Amino acid sequence: MNHNHTPVLIIGAGPAGLTLSHLLHLDGVESIVLEKRSREEVEGTIRAGILEPATLDLMKRTGVGDRVAREGIPEEGIEISVDGNRTRIDLYGLTGKTAAIYPQHEFLKDFISRRLKDKGTILFNTTVRDIEGEVVTIETPAGEITHIRADHVVAADGSASPWRQKVAEVRARHEYPYAWFGLLVEAPPTHSELIYATHPAGFALISKRNENVQRYYLQCDPNDQPEDWPEERIWEQLHLRADSNEITVSEGNITEKAVLRFRSAVTEPMQRGNLYLAGDSAHTVPPTGAKGLNLAVADVEVLAPGLIRAVKTGHTDLLDKYTEFALPHVWRAQQFSWWMSSLLHATKGENHFSARRRIAQLRSVLDSEAGRRFLAEQYVGTQAKELTS
Ligand code: DHB
Repeated sequence: MNHNHTPVLIIGAGPAGLTLSHLLHLDGVESIVLEKRSREEVEGTIRAGILEPATLDLMKRTGVGDRVAREGIPEEGIEISVDGNRTRIDLYGLTGKTAAIYPQHEFLKDFISRRLKDKGTILFNTTVRDIEGEVVTIETPAGEITHIRADHVVAADGSASPWRQKVAEVRARHEYPYAWFGLLVEAPPTHSELIYATHPAGFALISKRNENVQRYYLQCDPNDQPEDWPEERIWEQLHLRADSNEITVSEGNITEKAVLRFRSAVTEPMQRGNLYLAGDSAHTVPPTGAKGLNLAVADVEVLAPGLIRAVKTGHTDLLDKYTEFALPHVWRAQQFSWWMSSLLHATKGENHFSARRRIAQLRSVLDSEAGRRFLAEQYVGTQAKELTS
C-alpha cells in the first residue's frame, strides 16, 4: 500500500478508529490507522465490558460478531441494590433487547484481526507529530519523521487527544467528587446478573468476566491510590455495600487494581475542515452504565456514511452534518451516565436531606414500572440512527 496518500487517515486503534476503518473498508474506502501504542498494549488494556444491542448488531451485520455471539455473556437484566434490598430491572422484558458483557479489549482484538485479514493498514508504535490541513507528520517506530497526505483526518485517539483543540469551540465539562476503584478477581461469579449497589458507605458494582474471573468496582475518593485499599478494606467494603439476601460477594486473588476518574465532557463542534473527532477525543462519560465504547461506535456509524459519500462522489453534504447528527446521541448518553452516577453514589459531606432525597428519587424509579422501563431503555441504549432519521 502507498503510505504517501490515503483518503482517510485515522488516529487511534480504539473502538472508534477500528470500527470506522472496518465500516469504510466494507464500502470500498481505504484508510490508514495510526496507533502510538503496541498491538500487545492495545489488546491487553483492561477497560469496561458492556456492549449495547446497537453495538452487537453492528458487529453481527458487518461480520465481526462470531466470537461475541459465542463468548459474550448475555445481559438480560441488572439488579439495583439499595442498602441490601435488590430490585431487578428486566432489560429484555422491558425493552425486548439484551446487552452483553464482553470486555473492550476482546472487542478490539476482533476488529484488529479482521482489519488485518482484510489487508487493512494499522501502523502500531507510530506517533502523530503534527496535522496541517491534508499533511500529517508522523514518527515511525524507528524514530523517522515522514508525512502522509490525507483527504480526511479522524482523531479517534482518546480523551487526551492533542488534536481536539484544532476543532473545539466549546468544551462542556463536569467533574464528580468520586471515582471507582476497579478490581479483577479470580473467583467464581457472585451472582448471575450485575449488581449496582448503593449504600451509605458508597457505591459498589458487581460485574463479571467468566466462570473464574470477576470484575468489581468500589466507589472511592478521586485522589485515592491503590495503596489506600489494602485487601482487608476491599473485602470489608464490598461485603458491606453489596451483600444482600442470599448473595455474598465471592472472594479471590486480586489480579488488577486501578482508580478510574469520573469526568463528563462534550466538545462542540466535532468537525473543522477535514478534521473530525470521534469517540473519547470528542466526549468522555463517567463509567456508570459503561456507555463509552458504545458511544464511540455510535459516532462512527454517523461519520462513516458521510466519509464514504465524500470520498466516492466529492459531495460533503452528509459529512458537514456530522456534528448535528452525532450530538443528540452524545448528550443523551451524557445525561444517562450523569443521572445513574448521581442516583447511586453517596457524596462526601452529603447531608441528611440530600441523602434521603437521593434514595427517594431512586426508589421512585425502581418502584414504578414506568421508571424501571425508562432505566432499562436508557441502559440498553438508543440507536443513533433512530435519532437522526
Ligand atoms: C462494567 C463496567 C461498567 O461501567 C458498568 O456500568 C457495568 C459493567 C464492567 O466492566 O463489567
